[in-house]
Parts: sequence; C-alpha cells; structure tokens
Amino acid sequence: MAKEPVRVLVSGAAGQIGYALVPMIARGVMLGADQPVILHMLDIPPAAEALNGVKMELVDAAFPLLKGVVATTDVVEACTGVNIAVMVGGFPRKEGMERKDVMSKNVSIYKSQASALEQHAAPNCKVLVVANPANTNALILKEFAPSIPAKNITCLTRLDHNRALGQISEKLNVQVSDVKNVIIWGNHSSTQYPDVNHATVKTPSAEKPVCELVKDDAWLNGEFITTVQQRGAAIIKARKLSSALSAASAACDHIRDWVLGTPEGTWVSMGVYSDGSYNAPAGVIYSFPVTCRNGEWTIVQGLVIDEFSRKKLDLTGAELTKEKELAYSCLS
Ligand code: NAD
Ligand code: LMR
Repeated sequence: MAKEPVRVLVSGAAGQIGYALVPMIARGVMLGADQPVILHMLDIPPAAEALNGVKMELVDAAFPLLKGVVATTDVVEACTGVNIAVMVGGFPRKEGMERKDVMSKNVSIYKSQASALEQHAAPNCKVLVVANPANTNALILKEFAPSIPAKNITCLTRLDHNRALGQISEKLNVQVSDVKNVIIWGNHSSTQYPDVNHATVKTPSAEKPVCELVKDDAWLNGEFITTVQQRGAAIIKARKLSSALSAASAACDHIRDWVLGTPEGTWVSMGVYSDGSYNAPAGVIYSFPVTCRNGEWTIVQGLVIDEFSRKKLDLTGAELTKEKELAYSCLS
C-alpha cells in the first residue's frame, strides 16, 4: 500500500540552497524512494515571483513522488501541518562578512517563525535549521517555541561532517564511503572542531584508524582542521556565493539519517540541544556525534577526549555561549 505523503517545509525556497534542495526532496533523496511528499515552500514577498517559478519547474519535472506543492509568502500557510521543517530562509553571509554580522538580521526571523511552527506544524514536527548562524538560530527557535520538544530542533553541521570525510578521502586516496565516524564538535563556524581521533577507514583486511593511516600528525592537527573550518569561506571566495548544492545534500543526509536511522556502527554529526555531555555548555545547540534510531537521536557517549581536543571543544563552546548572549541582546 502506498505511504501517506509527508509534508516538508523549506523556508527560503526561492534562494540558492532552496533551488538545489527542493528537487532532491521531490526525488526521494531525503525521505526515501517510496515516500511521497508534499512540498511547502516559503519565501518573502519580494521573492514571490521567483518562488512561483520554482513551483512551475517542480510541476514541469513531473516527479512521481511529489503529491503537491504549496508556494507561499504566508508563514502560517507554509507551516500548517508540516511534519518536517527545513529552515533555510534568512540573510546569507557575503564575502568579507563575519557570521556575527548576519546574527541580528536572522535571529529576529527565527523568533517569529518559531511561533508559527509551534502553532501550526504537525505534532512531533522535526526541525532542521540551516540558515546562519545555524546553531543560534535553532536555539532562538527552540526558546520561542517552548511546546516543541527540544529534541525536535536541530541545526546543520552535517555539511562540515561531510567536508571532513571528503578531506580524509582525498588525503588517503580512498572512497569517501569507506571513511566513517569523523566528528564535528560545537558551532557551525570557524571555531568548529573537526575531530578524526575516532574515525576509521574500511580497508580490504579491516577497519583501520584514520590517524594510523594518515601518519601525519602535523596535517591532522593543522591543515586538515583549518581546511574544514574555513571551507565555507573558501567556497564564498570562489563562487561569490555560499555553498548550495553541498548544503542541500547535507540537509537531505541529516533528515534521512534522523528519520530512517544511522547505519550500525556509524555515527553522524548533528547540532542538538546540549545536555552538557562532554562538558560542552548546556543550553546551547552544540554539534555532537549522534546515532539515530526510531526517529530519535542519541549523543554517542564515552569517547575519550585528549587534551588537544578538550581545548578545541571548550573554545567552540565558549563561542556558542557568547553567541547566545549576543542573540538575546539583538532581540531585546
Ligand atoms: P539565499 O539568499 O540564496 O536564499 C535565502 C532565501 O531566504 C532568499 O530567497 C530570501 O528571500 C529568503 N528569506 C529571507 N528572509 C526570509 C524570511 N523571513 N522567511 C522566509 N524566507 C526568507 O541564501 P542561501 O545561499 O540559500 O543560504 C541560506 C542560508 O543558509 C544562509 O543563512 C546561509 O548562510 C546558510 N548556509 C548554511 C549552511 C550550513 O551548513 N549550516 C551552509 C550553507 C549556507
Ligand atoms: C558554509 O559552511 O558553507 C556556510 O555556512 C557559509 C558560511 O556562511 O560560512
């Protein structure tokens, strides 16, 4: 029997991530090849015509899984009945801008959209915030939608996770699908800590630690980390636009693993409401290694954190605490 359609909201759908993301969702990349979807696309009035153009293209693509499209500039209509909300709408960082510069523009958007989601989304709606500052926008959304369970509000650090997998795959000249269990700790910013201390590579004989195969601590503790931390800025410099296809693909990976589960023995990175695990600050949205089962994420516990890593976890945690204060000062 055919499954009931799932309603997926994409805010900022007329933007560049939206344009890459909606066809992926309509093709089943996010929720599976047997899962029909109804797309809800939200943007602001100046983008209404472009949004309608995206809707026309979705119709023209004749996606078999796509059972309906709501394209609107009305936030209530956009949020009504949605099971999944991918929040991409906002003001993107331009070349030369720090993430803090976009903070005040974006946190007020997330405060107002929090209420619309709280009042009109389907019960148990899962929320993924992509728009920057992603962790702090997600926190503001959580704070101003108190009836949505905190565990349902997450932010995207899967792009950073995938970037780390990509760098290791290139360095070792192995398939990216054979690399697993990297971790992104903390903020989706240049203070994030991409950690490969627990990562492995599948080889014909066994799974081997990345650190043993790379045999280059200077690269692992230096260039690897900064390349992943600065990748967003490098893409902005190259394209004069921020990453879009990789961000859209990572958003699909994030929701797919959250809803359908992570493979046995594999974890992924998600920005989730911190309970203080690994002595990260509690009460911020912090990226942790998580496994997912039955639609719920769980932070992987018990990993050994060495002194080098400890400092990096603390640094990115301190930035998130400061961002939280700054966000509240922008809202007051
Ligand atoms: P974009 O400017 O192309 O698109 C943003 C869209 O949001 C625009 O169409 C705009 O009209 C719309 N918008 C603005 N205010 C809105 C509101 N109040 N409600 C609904 N829509 C609204 O930007 P983009 O390149 O698609 O990037 C979107 C966001 O994602 C940016 O904040 C960017 O920094 C962020 N981003 C995050 C990651 C990540 O890994 N977390 C990666 C890449 C980009
Ligand atoms: C990215 O990581 O590509 C984006 O978050 C762009 C940015 O603003 O850094």
